[in-house]
Amino acid sequence: MRRMKTGAVCIGVGGLLLGLFACTAASSVKNGANPADRTYTLSWPVLAKQVRLTGKELEDLGGREVASSYFDRAMSYKNSRFISLPFENILRHYPEGEADAVLLDCVDDYQGLLSLADIRRFGLELATRILLAPDSERPGWLHPLLILVPEGSPAPFQERYMTANIRELRFVNLRQYYRPLDDIADRFPESAPGVQAFKDNCVYCHSAGGIGGGKGGSLLKKFDFKLAGKRDQFVARFLAFHHKDNADKQNVEQFVDHQQLKAIAGFLEKVEKP
Ligand code: HEC
Repeated sequence: MRRMKTGAVCIGVGGLLLGLFACTAASSVKNGANPADRTYTLSWPVLAKQVRLTGKELEDLGGREVASSYFDRAMSYKNSRFISLPFENILRHYPEGEADAVLLDCVDDYQGLLSLADIRRFGLELATRILLAPDSERPGWLHPLLILVPEGSPAPFQERYMTANIRELRFVNLRQYYRPLDDIADRFPESAPGVQAFKDNCVYCHSAGGIGGGKGGSLLKKFDFKLAGKRDQFVARFLAFHHKDNADKQNVEQFVDHQQLKAIAGFLEKVEKP
């Protein structure tokens, strides 16, 4: 029953060939929902405005099949394909008002953030379907919507550009969002590199200063950075969890070097405990 419905929708969306490809992938999505029928929220808190769109309605804004070697590299996959649209198409269709950033609220308590300037500079895309090669193991969090770095984009290699499982796109003000962390960089200039590395790679899952996601829990509750030896323990525990063989493909180690980890620990020492 579900299969037939999926097939009918897919063939309606694209040509027969694309339809068949998309259907294979759609039926392998674990929670069974057809990506075309899923709904997502776009909201503009300052304007008190909200719209809900289905995957199909998003695809109608310019979805087509693409590859991403950036994604394949970060996930250790080969030949992944996506139905994806330029994020710019959304910005053009829904003028952003005062907002200069978009907060990405995810199903698994991951909270991504992108500036609209970076979205434009790096030509970022939004994938509505993720079509993995047959032998690729899909971690539980890998569902649309997915931020996608397109081929040829100069986007730096960071966790920031790997946000998946997005259910709401909230248009916000960048400086206001980051203020709790930037205040620390202002008060303690030596912590600025740590703040930046944390913003680019960690805050999405480890909230700090009252912002960010809860997926990985608070690092400030786990580590007392003021105690001697805690920084080294923090780095060791990071490397023990976030390595390339992480069971849930949370290989964050690939995005940061040892110096950045030390800088992150130095910055966390300055943050008030929650
Ligand atoms: C995709 C989400 C995600 C991102 C991004 C992420 N983490 Fe984690 N992190 C987790 C999860 C989940 C755990 C496991 C938590 C647990 O077991 O309680 C974890 C565990 C850790 C641990 C080990 C904690 C312990 O109890 O041993 C450290 C240290 C850590 N992360 C630091 C970082 C740093 C530093 C960054 C950025 C460079 C980062 N994480 C980015 C999700 C994430």
